Amino acid sequence: MTDRPSSSQTAALEAAARAAQFDLPSGREKTVLVRSMFDAIAPRYDLVNRMMTFGLDVRWRKQSTRALGLPVGSRVLDLACGTGDFLKILSEAGLRPFGMDLSWGMLAANHTGEALAQADGALLPVADQSVDGITCGYALRNFTDLGTVFAEFSRVVRPGGRISLLEVAEPDSGLLRIGHRIWFRRVVPIIGGLFSDRAAYRYLPKSTAYLPPTPELRSMLTDCGFSAVNRRALSGGLSQLITATRTGRR
Ligand SMILES: C[S@@+](CC[C@H](N)C(=O)[O-])C[C@H]1O[C@@H](n2cnc3c(N)ncnc32)[C@H](O)[C@@H]1O
Repeated sequence: MTDRPSSSQTAALEAAARAAQFDLPSGREKTVLVRSMFDAIAPRYDLVNRMMTFGLDVRWRKQSTRALGLPVGSRVLDLACGTGDFLKILSEAGLRPFGMDLSWGMLAANHTGEALAQADGALLPVADQSVDGITCGYALRNFTDLGTVFAEFSRVVRPGGRISLLEVAEPDSGLLRIGHRIWFRRVVPIIGGLFSDRAAYRYLPKSTAYLPPTPELRSMLTDCGFSAVNRRALSGGLSQLITATRTGRR
């Protein structure tokens, strides 16, 4: 008799299948590729990001910070902090953030004075139940094993603590969806090629294939001990915000 696979094992298998379908790497190969890609694009990351989103990314990080709903002085880990845009907004909101990222290049380009460490989201050098909240901007699709990262969120966030995760999305409705597809799949790789690394910005639209569908994301978080899992579309669905509360269970 065999044990039934856990939701995170099932999610890992489904993610590998999605990756294979789009000829994307998985496992160790993905981790190495993602790290070297962000090392390469780090110096121009902020510039290209602003052009890609017309500056809307700043608004989305502010919405994500408000959605944490944590009191002033709360300790917040910004995972995959990159160059530090989220850290800056968290700090301006009166929270006490610190950042972690896999890419040394992104950390070296970090423009904040906040505490930083190089770490993989799947193995956080953070004590159990020691943070009030976690933010994570546009990195879910970059993690090699999302289920393990969510389990780490569950371990380090205190009961009652909050997570607030931003990711790219695709608008549901007709015209906006078509415009977004052209922009994200055709124009962004050209802008990325002109100002940064073409291969990296060709990979970016493809990497959305790693994202599990919303119901799967919800059950992964619930199984890891989060409740009140909520998904909200931002700016007509150009971006998505996922929030949840750590329960006392598990
Ligand atoms: C698209 S950038 C987002 C950066 C920043 N959060 C923002 O909102 O601008 C994705 C970031 O995820 C980081 N990353 C990818 N895989 C990671 C992992 N396994 N652990 C920690 N950080 C990771 C990359 O190095 C990169 O800085």
